[in-house]
Amino acid sequence: MQELLSSLGPVTAVIGAQWGDEGKGKATDMLAEHYDIIGRACGGANAGHTIVIDGQKHVFHLLPSGCFHEGKQVVLGAGMVLHLPTLLEEIHTLKEHGIDILDRLHISPAAHIVFDYHREIDGALEQERTQKEGQGIGTTKRGIGPAYMDKAARTGMRMERMNEDLTGVLTQRRDWAQRVYGVHIDVDQECAHLREAAAVLQGRVADTVALLHFWMQEGKTVIVEGAQATLLDIDHGTYPYVTSSSTTAAGALQGLGVPPRSLTSCIGVAKAYCTRVGSGPFRTEMEEELGNRIREKGGEYGATTGRPRRCGWLHIPDLLRTVQINGFSQWNVTKLDVLDDEAEILVGVDEKDGNAVFETVPGWQTSTVGITHFEDLPEQAKSYITFIEEKTGVPVALIGTGPDREQMIVKA
Ligand code: IMP
Repeated sequence: MQELLSSLGPVTAVIGAQWGDEGKGKATDMLAEHYDIIGRACGGANAGHTIVIDGQKHVFHLLPSGCFHEGKQVVLGAGMVLHLPTLLEEIHTLKEHGIDILDRLHISPAAHIVFDYHREIDGALEQERTQKEGQGIGTTKRGIGPAYMDKAARTGMRMERMNEDLTGVLTQRRDWAQRVYGVHIDVDQECAHLREAAAVLQGRVADTVALLHFWMQEGKTVIVEGAQATLLDIDHGTYPYVTSSSTTAAGALQGLGVPPRSLTSCIGVAKAYCTRVGSGPFRTEMEEELGNRIREKGGEYGATTGRPRRCGWLHIPDLLRTVQINGFSQWNVTKLDVLDDEAEILVGVDEKDGNAVFETVPGWQTSTVGITHFEDLPEQAKSYITFIEEKTGVPVALIGTGPDREQMIVKA
């Protein structure tokens, strides 16, 4: 571990290399213990990670994994869109378990507020697309797209306005939302949510850029937890089947207001196979029976929406692209154990006429669950990891071998 930490350096980012749900939370949580500050930079309650506290499972959407470590400063950056009732609920859940995060939570005044009406508009837009085009994007319906639409149109409301009485603005919006989307805004309820949040979050909205800068000058270390993943990026993802924010390493730095040159490393997180929720191209998607088997074995159901995830094989051209975009210094390959039963593993290594060209590598057909030393992996599993390293030119530093925190190989 020490070797890995020194190779990562003081500012590292953990970025998804596929379509999300790669298991970024586990690596962040594990590494966060060794960092002073945990930052989240973009996205909102479309993300979801399951955390076990006192044996009970909880799904968190806004607070980054790793915030459970006492004494760590937690920053929610300017690139984020925050649904305040969800944030309060998460803070409350932690408090119930004896974890007080409020005095170490710092929210950018430039982060945008997601109102309930953004969620309604998200639903209305999906319905319209489905009617017109036969299928929607398959969004999480958390109001993410509409909140970023408001942001880009410069009509959004930011956290700096949380203490204001927004009745007038929201009443104007009510007429507009009704006219354009047929969506009703409950102004009183939106204002009540704001007042409640303002009371709880008093003093927590702060100049996070200045704070991060100050801490970094003091020699404090920062881990940035990316949200969603590179193939869902608004610029570089499989548009239009993408999210509405910048989910890359550059996007994470932008979202936090940290200079690009301060990043000392960037961990790319990819499953040993691949999944996708929602619509969009998926060249290595498995046929139904195999996909079902992997979905059950890997528990591939959305943490936020409960939707079954589409399952497929690893796709090297996509991974190479994400290496180019993010400059990954290391891989965290997750869920290796989910492939334990497979006699053969397919990997998309190239593309021809828009289809994946596969190479087949032998499976190991023995359990790797809970293995924590690379040497203890079966030979074929080692070869699979080496294959990924050779094909992508990036070393694998962490390998997930089960859902628990301890079930991880630190290879570096
Ligand atoms: P939105 O971010 O809710 O607008 O959804 C846009 C697309 O991104 C949909 O295909 C979602 O399923 C996908 N998406 C958004 N957040 C996540 C995530 O955290 N994991 C996986 N997919 C996500």
